[in-house]
Amino acid sequence: MNSVNIGLIGAGTVGCGVYSILAGNSKLIERRTGAKLRLKKIADIDIGRKRPVRIPKRLFTADARELLDDDSISIIIELVGGTTAARELVLGALRAGKHVVTANKALLAGHGEEIFAEAAANGVEVAFEASVGGGIPIIKALRESYVANSILSMHGIMNGTCNYILHRMSEEKRGFEETLLMAQREGYAEADPSFDIDGTDAAHKLSVLITLAWGFFPRLEDIPVEGIRNVCAADIEFADRLGYRIKLLATAKMRERGVEAGVYPALVRKNTQLADVGGAFNAIRVSGDAVGPTMLYGMGAGMLPTASAVVSDAAALASGGGRALPPGSGGGSGGKLSLLDPSGAAGRYYLRFRAGDVPGTLGRITTILGKNGISIESVVQEAEGAEGGEVPIVMMTREADGGSLREALGRIRRSAVPVSEAVSMRIEEIRA
Ligand code: HSE
Repeated sequence: MNSVNIGLIGAGTVGCGVYSILAGNSKLIERRTGAKLRLKKIADIDIGRKRPVRIPKRLFTADARELLDDDSISIIIELVGGTTAARELVLGALRAGKHVVTANKALLAGHGEEIFAEAAANGVEVAFEASVGGGIPIIKALRESYVANSILSMHGIMNGTCNYILHRMSEEKRGFEETLLMAQREGYAEADPSFDIDGTDAAHKLSVLITLAWGFFPRLEDIPVEGIRNVCAADIEFADRLGYRIKLLATAKMRERGVEAGVYPALVRKNTQLADVGGAFNAIRVSGDAVGPTMLYGMGAGMLPTASAVVSDAAALASGGGRALPPGSGGGSGGKLSLLDPSGAAGRYYLRFRAGDVPGTLGRITTILGKNGISIESVVQEAEGAEGGEVPIVMMTREADGGSLREALGRIRRSAVPVSEAVSMRIEEIRA
């Protein structure tokens, strides 16, 4: 029996989940993998804080270095979060010849190249299943299960907070601010929710998936990110009537010249798997050239789902690893691909204007769109939402060039057409 000592740094919610799973399921893991996982020490800056599980005091230290200096510990689990102390600890652990398990997508998205290089230099591994999709085994799937495929596209609902807020806005016909406050009261959104609702968290996760799928480390600043702050109840309502739901998507698509990637709210056709992902759930749709479309679904956050992924990584490392495709090794592309900005890419768009209810307004809007090569598929002008002499006008475009659309909207805003609001959102036609 292979007995492995583990050091856990960070005993917050997920850390407590790791303790709890190891306390309850380590015999089961031992029978399945042949590895005996022993949580030897836990480092946390606040030993005395109230925790959801009871952990014996003797396991704790306030000094994480103690774990890095302990030669009997061969796996460090980093659950500190953030990128400053976490980076130092992870690099320190790798230099000390220890494997690292982390859930830290911000760290991997910002410093992945450095961290994986340090791991390779020291002959150890970094495992990060919990960094994307919580308990969903998307990392293992990309590293192993899809290894026979060229990855064609990935569409992820990878932020539970945003999905929860959008779902409730849709179900209860409420505005964004009100729903955010409710989500905060119920513990679904952080006190400072900006990382989630501004799309940063989803972009970090997308960056990790791109590295695995296509073998290069994208620069975070090259991924255009738009969150859900500006999604309003009216857009959700119009989308619903047109047969769509609005979801915060993180997408990456292989094109001839590179990978088009971005995070943005988009219209997804109702009665498709992604549109039906409700509440705080996550889902990632991966399409491969051999396997076709697939989808993984589950809890993207939470104490036990995330800890499930952390412990599975520790078990895999303890029983001899299982790394089929090291990140940054060239992946499926031989390392030749790079990122393309999706905002200029062709696609269909949902447009909503608030415009003066005067003769000729609609014609003047469509004329400017037409001059920029934007063809309209359908138009709805609603008397219902009329307010202060303005009415909502909603359009669906045919396939249009993103750059031309941006230019047309700019012209409409600058023109004498009485338009006080011009909203655009991509329509992602993902069948089934
Ligand atoms: N805050 C994230 C979410 C979970 O809302 O999905 C951790 O990445």
